[in-house]
Amino acid sequence: MSEIIIDPVTRIEGHSRISIQLDEQGQVVDAHFHVTQFRGFERICQGRPFHEMPSLMARICGICPVSHLIASAKACEEVMAVSIPPVAVRLRRVMNLAQIVQSHALSFFHLSSPDLLLGFDADAAGRNFFGVAEAAPQLALDGVAMRKFGQQIIERLGGKRVHPGWIVPGGVSRPLAAEQRDEILAVVPDALERIRRTLAWYKANVARWVDEASTFANFQTLYMGLVHENGNIGYSDGDMRVVDGNGRLLADHRDPRPYWDYLGESVVPWSYLKSTYWKEFGYPDGIYRVGPLARLNVVDRLGTPEADDELQLYRDRLGRYPASSFYYHHARLIEILHCIHSIAENLSDPGILDDRVRAVAEPNRPEGVGVSEAPRGTLLHHYRVDENGSVQWANLIIATGHNNMAMNRGVLEVARKYVRGTQIPEGMLNRVEAVIRCFDPCLSCSTHAIGEMPLQVQLLGADGQVLDELAR
Ligand code: MG
Ligand code: NI
Repeated sequence: MSEIIIDPVTRIEGHSRISIQLDEQGQVVDAHFHVTQFRGFERICQGRPFHEMPSLMARICGICPVSHLIASAKACEEVMAVSIPPVAVRLRRVMNLAQIVQSHALSFFHLSSPDLLLGFDADAAGRNFFGVAEAAPQLALDGVAMRKFGQQIIERLGGKRVHPGWIVPGGVSRPLAAEQRDEILAVVPDALERIRRTLAWYKANVARWVDEASTFANFQTLYMGLVHENGNIGYSDGDMRVVDGNGRLLADHRDPRPYWDYLGESVVPWSYLKSTYWKEFGYPDGIYRVGPLARLNVVDRLGTPEADDELQLYRDRLGRYPASSFYYHHARLIEILHCIHSIAENLSDPGILDDRVRAVAEPNRPEGVGVSEAPRGTLLHHYRVDENGSVQWANLIIATGHNNMAMNRGVLEVARKYVRGTQIPEGMLNRVEAVIRCFDPCLSCSTHAIGEMPLQVQLLGADGQVLDELAR
């Protein structure tokens, strides 16, 4: 048995490793996406007062702290047995939408646009965001501005950019001021102009990526996401809907909290990251995806007119249930457009400046589950507390875990198409990484990022001898 190891994957958030197993004939027989380091947050929180959980859990990730804040606060509110003031629901929504914009912008512009603009076979030395800035300055500027748009909203609401302590159990810690609201609304037209330009660029160039679209984890799975009662997309609220690629509903209007009823968690030897599966279908048949592609597949509509027009064009082109994970990119852009409109809509609500923003209560239940859509997909936090409200046990299910099986199968699919013989061609290497980048895995959520390491790729013979090696 031979094995190609790619370590770590570049241009995804955090660190990981990909290995590709060859048989004696040099044919790809298996592929694994390894997540090899574990932060142990589920253990760190034991013994802490439950109300400290949101700010503690936000430290899991510098990329998506707001997602953890929201899922954690919702789990705490289950423990408290309270529902939060309506204005707090809206304000959290705005912060979550802003984070989706900034995180999607990071994924699309900074991490994936080098491949899309410069080509998957372009010289690796220039195939990065600086290369994009040289070749298409407007695209790069739009990317920087979209991130800033999202980050500034988070800052205006929370007071600081990373790990804001504004989202607390029971609601938010302080109401929105009219001045902050107006500052955010004033930059909405600029953000809309930039995402419209990017969508037009994507659609004008999509024919260049047909090969990648046909092989980048292009298979039907189940799709999962939070949906409002009326069929509109839900992010920080909503109930669960699960569909298959033929539109068959496996769950609808379902309370997402008792996840043990519908999800199985399987441990695989090569990764600390558990693979979840749809329990009814078992492992591995219960493979499903979450995140932008899955959300667009499960919803009837997004709920803002311009984004719904884009969603219709997307469905006209790709069908009602697009299967290729390459289309995560397109779905991400449509979601950015929707999130910007939705931010403006929520901030224009007449009650948005209400100053009753927080419910206060002691622990009233021994456990709680909080569910929210992170940029990458559904996020669950589950805590058990003792009679004093001290956390005894915690379980987190992150988007990258939901997508783990699909990512592994996607790497195998790409490797089968591009790996030939005992050499590692650069185009193959980049495509194996690129299929993972489609999912935008947030490895910060499941790994330690301990600084930059050089990219190392090894092709190992049956006796362990190095047949080929690439390092960046
Ligand atoms: Mg877990
Ligand atoms: Ni994260």
